This record gives sequence, structure tokens and C-alpha cells, in this order.
Amino acid sequence: EFPVITIDGPSGVGKGTLAQYLTCKTGFHLLDSGAIYRSLAYGVTANQIAIDDVASLVALAETLPVEFKATSIIYDGTDVTAKVRTEEVAAVASTVAAIPEVRSALLNRQKAFAQSPGLIADGRDMGTVVFPGSPLKLYLTASAAVRAERRVKQLKNQGIDANIAQITKDIEERDLRDSSRKTAPLKPADDAIIIDTSDLDINEVCQKAMALLWD
Ligand code: CDP
Repeated sequence: EFPVITIDGPSGVGKGTLAQYLTCKTGFHLLDSGAIYRSLAYGVTANQIAIDDVASLVALAETLPVEFKATSIIYDGTDVTAKVRTEEVAAVASTVAAIPEVRSALLNRQKAFAQSPGLIADGRDMGTVVFPGSPLKLYLTASAAVRAERRVKQLKNQGIDANIAQITKDIEERDLRDSSRKTAPLKPADDAIIIDTSDLDINEVCQKAMALLWD
């Protein structure tokens, strides 16, 4: 067994940046589980699979032709890194992520990332479902307004024009869907350490996490 550090929380809370930072500092592997759900959503759209066709969704999830190479996401030989980052893909991701059979079809694939010397796992249910035995579980929160602002900035950096009102609405819808679903709803594990990042910049969040890691 190798140490797994889990980072969960809603959209735009800074999980991805913290996960990358901790990966650099520790030399551990990185699991961006959201990228797996987004890749599935990409495949669902590309293959025109109906959102209620559970058998086809599960079949795709079980054989999902996605690979992670450095910071790129390769789907069936094509670089889809930019394509899966849109809010449209995220909306489909959160819809299919609510289906229990889809979640269990992706479980082993996520667990397989836990390899020597350790893993930083970023997602919604890393501490509650995928790695419940993790010795350090972080749960990041921030107000919806702050998160929407961060997401708009992030999308702008990727050359995607985003409207703050629309993003706020998208984020609130997705949070509601993620936290109200029956299977693996978004919520902190009982033994998670909650970090409210509303008034912290990313450096401060990273320093806080590092302090906990060496504790
Ligand atoms: O980038 P952002 O935090 O907004 O989203 P993401 O981490 O890329 O995840 C996209 C969607 O996938 C989420 O809204 C969830 O519905 C779903 N997801 C999940 O259900 N479980 C995970 N472990 C990770 C993502």
C-alpha cells in the first residue's frame, strides 16, 4: 500500500492547482479523476450515446480509450486536452457521473493510479469512495461567487470567452447535481480536513496543505 492524499471539493475551488503543486513537491503520481469523467463525456458526445442508454454508457466507461501523457489527455489517439475543458463537456460529465453503474465501471481504473511512491488524487469522491483509507484527506471549499470568478479567469487563460453570470449558473447547477446524487455525492469524508479557500490565494492554500502533509 502506498500513501494516497485525497483532494475533494466543488468546481473552481483550486483542487487541480493544489494537486499539481503537491505532485511536484512529493514526486507522487497524479489522478485527475475529473479528467476521466470529462473524457467519458467527450466520448459520449462523439459517439452520440443517449444519456439514458446506461448499457452503452457502461460499455464505453469500461473500455474508455483515454491516456494521460504529462499534462495532455489523449482520447483514442487524439489530443482532447482543450476540448474536454469546456463547461458543455463538464455538464455532460456531471450528468453521466450521477449514474451508479457508470461510477462503478470507472472505479478500478481510478484505484490503479495508486502506485509507488504514492498518489495525489483530485476529485469529488476520492476520500469518501475511491480511497477511503487515505491518511490525509483534504476538502476544499469556497463561496460560489469566488469559484465562478476563478473559473472565468481560468477559461480566459485557455482562450475561452466566459460570462460570469452564465458560469455562476453553470457552477451552481453542477454543484447541486454533484451534491444531491445518491451515489458518491459531493461531501467531505468524516475524517477530511476542510480548507475554506475563499480568502486565500493559491500559494496560501499550497502552504497550508504542505504543513498538513509534514504534520
Ligand atoms: O474542473 P472542475 O472541478 O469543475 O470539474 P472536474 O473535476 O473536471 O469534474 C467534472 C465533473 O465530473 C464534476 O462536476 C462531477 O460531476 C464529475 N466528477 C465526479 O463525479 N467524480 C469525480 N471524482 C470527479 C469528477
